[in-house]
Amino acid sequence: MSTEPVFQRCINARCARTFGVREVHVACPSCGDLLDVAYDWSKMDPPRRLGDFQARWATRNNPLDFSGVWRFRELLDFCEDRFKVTIGEGQTLLQDNRGVAEYVGARPGNLFLQYEGMNPSGSFKDNGMSAAFSHARMVGARRVACASTGNTSASLALYAAHVGVQSIVFIGSGRIAFGKLAQALDYGARTLQIAGDFDTCMRRVKEAAARLGLYLMNSLNPFRLEGQKTIMFRVLEGLGWQVPDWIVVPGGNLGNSSAFGKAFLELRELGLIDRVPRLAVINSTGADTLDRLVNQKKLTWTPDAEGGGMSALACGSYDRDAIAADWKWQDDTRRRPHTIASAIEIARPVNAAKCLRALRVCDGVVRAVGDNEIMDAKAQVGCRGLGCEPASAASVAGAKRLIDEGVIDRDARVVCILTGHALKDPDAAVGYHAGEYARGKEVAGNRPFANVPIQVADDIDAICKAIESL
Ligand code: F0G
Repeated sequence: MSTEPVFQRCINARCARTFGVREVHVACPSCGDLLDVAYDWSKMDPPRRLGDFQARWATRNNPLDFSGVWRFRELLDFCEDRFKVTIGEGQTLLQDNRGVAEYVGARPGNLFLQYEGMNPSGSFKDNGMSAAFSHARMVGARRVACASTGNTSASLALYAAHVGVQSIVFIGSGRIAFGKLAQALDYGARTLQIAGDFDTCMRRVKEAAARLGLYLMNSLNPFRLEGQKTIMFRVLEGLGWQVPDWIVVPGGNLGNSSAFGKAFLELRELGLIDRVPRLAVINSTGADTLDRLVNQKKLTWTPDAEGGGMSALACGSYDRDAIAADWKWQDDTRRRPHTIASAIEIARPVNAAKCLRALRVCDGVVRAVGDNEIMDAKAQVGCRGLGCEPASAASVAGAKRLIDEGVIDRDARVVCILTGHALKDPDAAVGYHAGEYARGKEVAGNRPFANVPIQVADDIDAICKAIESL
């Protein structure tokens, strides 16, 4: 057990080894399981009330107080201020969206969209990158790398350009939406297009990082998830520090859901909230590993000590062999993920174990929704005045499904996380509305909310007639 106030700890209760905060690991060197950043709150100075953070609004000319991540720094205090990196991430919005409420069947005023597309690189990843880059700076990393379905690479490239370190990104050939690729290239990341999908890239980047000493920025990096906890702090802030009934989030590599679970575990442990919201993690049916592990194979998280309260949930155990068997089955059956929500086209989510923990902390559920449901929900988010990329809309499609099923009560207060901006994937949007092919993936279904462009001759009478007939 560490005597430091902040340390790294293996999540596996049978190991639970601890490591210093200046060490760089992407897995437990002892047992290979995931690591957490852990805090001994008795040696720290955590806030007594969440409302205390509001005072920082008055001092937002200090970049750390302006940052939507670092203004909650006492809840992720693993480095000194001089190492902290910020480019103004986390200025996001919790919007009460009545149109989307109507679409999903929630009571008006009870459905909120947490819009992470407002981040500097247009996705929630910036929350994590500000934290991971701070750790990278603290340990003096010179080169940073990630595998990505797009947004991680865009965010990493932006922060690397800001900090002045070399960035290397691994992307699957032909798998990444153009808005994201454009960003990675423009921000100067050296981009390796690997002949394979995200899971291939993930495996290779880990090997390359180990061999060449690259600092890995994927969500295996426990410091990244510390930054992503703040999405939940801002949700609570947006609700006047009240806890909602449900958080609904898309699931890909399962970093976000894992971070959310950890955030609520710690807030509850600190007595800063009196109850924990329920969590719904939404897969695409084309990339439904978590759905299979939880709903078919019934995988769960078993805490260190039963009846030990929230803190005992931090370390635990799960059926690691069942996950390995699922990976093998995917290989044997040549099963490959395929979804229009390319951001979550992931078959081997690296944070599966931490997500199981989050589901236990938050009494969570998992569902998989089809591409048609995702694209219809995306069109609804767009025409109700916000806009998001396909993967983000999985949360809205998931909320609709769970309300239809009666799992989420119509009267419940529900927060759907919109993880990325609409402009990330213009091909998917044009494919849906104009009925064209979106980067080789046909937008299926009857597209009930398609806003089809109208072809008109270059003739003023025809143009006016077309307008009159709208
Ligand atoms: N939504 C968007 C827009 C994403 O880019 C991602 C993940 C997710 C949801 C899923 O989040 O992995 O925390 O479960 N994108 C990663 C990437 C994998 O490489 O950009 P998760």
